[in-house]
Amino acid sequence: MGERIAVFGAGYAGLVTAAGFADLGHQVVVRDVVPEKVDALRAGRVPFHEPGLEEVIARVGDRLRFTLDYQEAVEGARFVFVCVGTPATYSGDADLSAVWTVLDELRDLADGAVVVMKSTVPVGTGDTVRAALDARGLTHIGYVSNPEFLAEGSAVKDFLEPDRIVIGSFQEADGDAVERLHDGLDAPSVRTDVPSAEMVKLAANAYLGTRISFINEIANVCELVGADVETVAWGMGLDSRIGTRYLQAGIGFGGSCFPKDISFLKLLAGNSGYHFQLLNSVIEVNELQKRRVVSKLQKHLGSLRGKTIALLGLAFKANTDDMREAPSIVLASRLLAEGADVRTWDPVADASSILRGVTFAETVLEAVRDADAAVVVTGWDELRDLPRAEIRDAMRVPLIVDGRNVVDPGAARSAGFTYEGIGRASTSPLAGLPETDEPAIAEHSPEA
Ligand code: UDX
Repeated sequence: MGERIAVFGAGYAGLVTAAGFADLGHQVVVRDVVPEKVDALRAGRVPFHEPGLEEVIARVGDRLRFTLDYQEAVEGARFVFVCVGTPATYSGDADLSAVWTVLDELRDLADGAVVVMKSTVPVGTGDTVRAALDARGLTHIGYVSNPEFLAEGSAVKDFLEPDRIVIGSFQEADGDAVERLHDGLDAPSVRTDVPSAEMVKLAANAYLGTRISFINEIANVCELVGADVETVAWGMGLDSRIGTRYLQAGIGFGGSCFPKDISFLKLLAGNSGYHFQLLNSVIEVNELQKRRVVSKLQKHLGSLRGKTIALLGLAFKANTDDMREAPSIVLASRLLAEGADVRTWDPVADASSILRGVTFAETVLEAVRDADAAVVVTGWDELRDLPRAEIRDAMRVPLIVDGRNVVDPGAARSAGFTYEGIGRASTSPLAGLPETDEPAIAEHSPEA
């Protein structure tokens, strides 16, 4: 029969968590405050792009329900999962207002009910919440920190096949109960106190972001010394102490987690009296990395004023339509500021309310027609075969700047493109050219 679970928040984390628990046999009711979202979900439609999620929702049937109503969500529920957004404020601190809205509303919970925090929160939040619940006389309600490690695009798999389940509790019995909810998943549990569980989440994301900024800096040096970062990352990563994942050089990390979690951790350290120097660099490298594409374009085209640049991919990474902190936003505005005409294409992301002054194309071909450069911004699979005759013939200048290293440089050159990746200087026919205002491409016709 499973346990009765209430999930507050039908975003990426909330929906995947809810569908995952329903798939494990529990009875889950998701409560959200946006009527259109609840309507869509009741009709079996997921209001964002997440591969496999609709299928899980369909297969769990009435073990998963959706409501706008608080009472309906908590009726008979033993567990209340808080899965609302915790965006960064303008200062980079965590905006916990949605979390507190949920917590303030809690009432009519059964003895032994457990509030489970999935939302990413600064370390110390659990202590504050515990004190607030106690002050309201809710001492009979347990509190557990159970951070999520779901990456968009693979979130369903990440729930069903996790690397680990982190459970931080004040009372061991509450932690035991949350651990049992995960029966059926084959993963080690990390049982700990609440602050350590909160820290695992921030530290994990900050470390992954650090790896990405690290490999991006290695890539930048590779460009100067004639090494190839793809090979370097592979050669490094096969060292079992290092591992190959999260060493993909590119135009920087984005998304709803890495940028804000790194900022949370940096500020949390600062507020606690410690200057987290490394994270300042991780953030700065990431910001600069997004902008390097502009100088790569200038290297080949000279001034970008009046040039048409096609940005291929807008979402912060492939397999999602999420535009949060997407490098494409910074890139588009930098290019517009340089006087370029910016065309964009993405197979799923709708950026019309976010990007102003750019043209949205329906197809890659339409985006690159008469363009002076095609920039791969998101590593969509369909961009791997970009270097084909149809694309080359449509472009005014057959230049590919590959911000994700998804295109085969050899294939690009033999198809007649000038190719520039990230950290792949040794494979770029124009590597090492001095920066100039003069268009280099006019002097260097691409190899046929
Ligand atoms: C991340 C964490 O992976 C997940 O555990 C956490 O709960 C939420 O944050 P997500 O933001 O969905 O998930 O995406 P992820 O796949 O981790 O990528 C984050 C960013 O890093 C993307 O912009 C991606 O393009 C970039 N990235 C990732 C790289 O540039 N190089 C890499 O090697 C890996």
